[in-house]
Amino acid sequence: MDTKNGAWVAVVTSSILALCTVPVSADVVAIGASHDNTMFEEDSILSNGAGEFFFTGLTRDTVLRRGLIAFDVAGAIPAGSTVNSVTLTLYMSRTKTGDMDVDLHKVQAAWGEGTSHASGEEGGGDAATNGDATWMYRLFDENDPPNSPAWTTPGGDYAPTPSGTAVVGNRMAFYSWSSAGMVTDVQAWLDTPGTNYGWIVIGNAVDDRDTKRFNTHENTDTATRPELVVDFTPPALTGACCAADGTCTVVLDPGTNCTGTYQGAGTDCTPNPCPEPDGACCLPDASGTCVETTATDCAAQGGTFQGDLTTCGGATCPVVLEPFVDPLPLPAVAQPITGTPGGAATYDLAIRQVQQQLHRDLPPTTVWGYGDGPTGAAYPGPTLETTTGEPITVNWINDLRDGGGALRTDHYLNVDLCPHGAVNLPKIVVHLHGGHVPAAVDGYPEATFLPGEQVTYDYPNNQLPGTLWYHDHALGITRLNVYMGLAGFYLVRDAVEAALGLPSGEFEVALAVQDRTFNPDGSLSYPATWQDHFFGDTILVNGKVWPYFNVKQGKYRFRLLGGSSSRTYHLTLSTGDPFVQIGTEGGLLPAPVTVSSITLPPGERADVIIDFAGHAPGTQIDLLNSAPAPYPGTPGVGVIPDVMRFIVQDQPGHTDAIPSTLRAMEVLDELDATETRDFVLEKGSDPCSGQVWLINGLGWDDVTEFPELGATEVWRFINQSGNMHPMHMHLVFFQVLDRQAFDDSSGSIVPIGSPMPPPPEEAGWKDTVKVAPNEIVRVIARFEDYTGKYPYHCHILEHEDHEMMRQFQVVCPAAAAIPAVTFKGVLALIFFLAVTGAIVVRSRSTARTV
Ligand code: C2O
Ligand code: CU
Ligand code: CU
Repeated sequence: MDTKNGAWVAVVTSSILALCTVPVSADVVAIGASHDNTMFEEDSILSNGAGEFFFTGLTRDTVLRRGLIAFDVAGAIPAGSTVNSVTLTLYMSRTKTGDMDVDLHKVQAAWGEGTSHASGEEGGGDAATNGDATWMYRLFDENDPPNSPAWTTPGGDYAPTPSGTAVVGNRMAFYSWSSAGMVTDVQAWLDTPGTNYGWIVIGNAVDDRDTKRFNTHENTDTATRPELVVDFTPPALTGACCAADGTCTVVLDPGTNCTGTYQGAGTDCTPNPCPEPDGACCLPDASGTCVETTATDCAAQGGTFQGDLTTCGGATCPVVLEPFVDPLPLPAVAQPITGTPGGAATYDLAIRQVQQQLHRDLPPTTVWGYGDGPTGAAYPGPTLETTTGEPITVNWINDLRDGGGALRTDHYLNVDLCPHGAVNLPKIVVHLHGGHVPAAVDGYPEATFLPGEQVTYDYPNNQLPGTLWYHDHALGITRLNVYMGLAGFYLVRDAVEAALGLPSGEFEVALAVQDRTFNPDGSLSYPATWQDHFFGDTILVNGKVWPYFNVKQGKYRFRLLGGSSSRTYHLTLSTGDPFVQIGTEGGLLPAPVTVSSITLPPGERADVIIDFAGHAPGTQIDLLNSAPAPYPGTPGVGVIPDVMRFIVQDQPGHTDAIPSTLRAMEVLDELDATETRDFVLEKGSDPCSGQVWLINGLGWDDVTEFPELGATEVWRFINQSGNMHPMHMHLVFFQVLDRQAFDDSSGSIVPIGSPMPPPPEEAGWKDTVKVAPNEIVRVIARFEDYTGKYPYHCHILEHEDHEMMRQFQVVCPAAAAIPAVTFKGVLALIFFLAVTGAIVVRSRSTARTV
């Protein structure tokens, strides 16, 4: 086979280049031999390493010779290339015979080329030198020939099947070998260069003088040296592509497919070379500052990263406030216009929109509060101090005005119109929670009044002392009005309680615990549409975010109010100190009860004593919360742990002992109950808002409970939902009879186990009770003194507004059966209103323009 000279020269030129640099785009390369040699069978230590020729075939003495030749494939072809074809070209310069098959076999062990150089025509070989391959040895060692690394099989270790064969004929011509087997060999040498031992060249010699002599890579005629031409496909060139979000993908060079920034040929994604993207980062400060930076930098600044490529324009950063920097506000005692606080008196209490600073670092917040003077108002409202048997009168005045001083005509917050009774009006009505009062002054949710209007409520205070609170109760928007701030304490006292010597004066503090979320401008943040629950991200006590309170070394009486819309509190002290609970919503317990925690759902109150006498001055004692939100929920989920901090001062406080008995309590007897009513608490669906909370599947206008005046009844609250509902009844205080779990997987309610009586701290007069999921809570109440319609409801305000609030109507015994059962219409209503009017003689309710 002849090779055209022109082509050959071109190949050689490229070969020289190829040996110098690894070509990255060429697909054909000619490679010169890296080493070659001849092994002579007649003597185990003959070779011809540095000679100009190598031989295969028989000498005239019929002694075998074999050639060896190798090429540095990996040095000339980029790793990862695919070998397409291989051509070995040798120049044959001397022979004594005609055509002869010459085979190439893949050699399986390393061999070498030394400096041996035979003389003359070189056919007889020369003494092997260091590193030469001989018939016996792969790598001859002049100093220790017998221990030179030897072939396993003298004459060379090679694959039995030839990789390629060519017929070699006349001398002075080029011959070429090209085969699939050689492609396989070269690919293997490229992929695993350590196995590249080249080929052994074996002439298919039969007769003596069947021999072929080939020029070696030392031949002085460079054009006749061995050449291996390899056609290959280089590995696809790739590079890393950085997307804007910092993710890296490998794409084909030159990166035309890269959506982003191509990093150049040969770059890869490990490690990720892409610049970290920016995103919105919320810094933990009072203004909800947002910066656009990387996640790493955001973390370094203590911020909360909002995600790659998010922007501050699209992010709302929460206001993060430092706890315990503001002193606890103590609501002022409401000042009457006639009479004295604590005695019979008349008050003007105006509901006004004011600015109030709720945390050191917040701009003033627009709130709605109650004011006892001609201007101003406070959130929470001033505390009404009253005494059993001493009635008071309150003129509740709706004086809500906008920033310009005009009476408001709409609500401050967005009003979702889905809940029953919701309207976008600043309508209000004041309910005295825990008040045993005539229906006309109870703050009937539909008896709302607008800015410029006022009502006068007479509160008889014919009830035991207790921790009451007043708050808004407008149908459909109670949660919004209370969230704006409309709540305050109303304490009822008497001489019996005063004689107990409980901590009083500066040592008696009412604590309204609530949660709120703020916008960076200080305004209150509340969802625009009705939600199942609302949980604020900060906790306020008496209208300050996470306040501190300096306490003297002694006992304090704290009247704790769960005043949140939805959030239940599970309160403990950071020191592990106990609380001594002395009362519930409706007044003192028969005896103090020491508890390690207080669970306070919306609406409930706990009257507790904490003793700071044993703590050194400077001690910080935190009131902590661990209740999940929603409740009971999953431990840890939704918890806001801080509530407030007590700091012990170096001053003596109230150190008198707590009496071991407080106040005898009448225990209602189940045997006196004339009626047992069931109330199933469950979630329903609603076409407007999706969901709605229901009691017995009924709504506000469905009046089906008509307790007779003076009757004792047992009410069973049966919670078929996944949330605890704090159930509240107006008019009455009740006692908890027991709790029992139930199973409803069968479709009907099957009580499990035996009913458990309430723990002692819950065995007092109550008006709100926790009903846990899958629990039946039985309460007993006596419907005394007043007839008329009163609400009972879940005190989670989001539930109360939609539509977990219904009404019972107390009726006169004689008249009860007939209308309640036979008429449920207008006639009955008129009749009952008439009855109510006859019974209620000590109260009046009027609406008139201010
Ligand atoms: Cu405190 Cu009907 O509510
Ligand atoms: Cu109430
Ligand atoms: Cu509820």
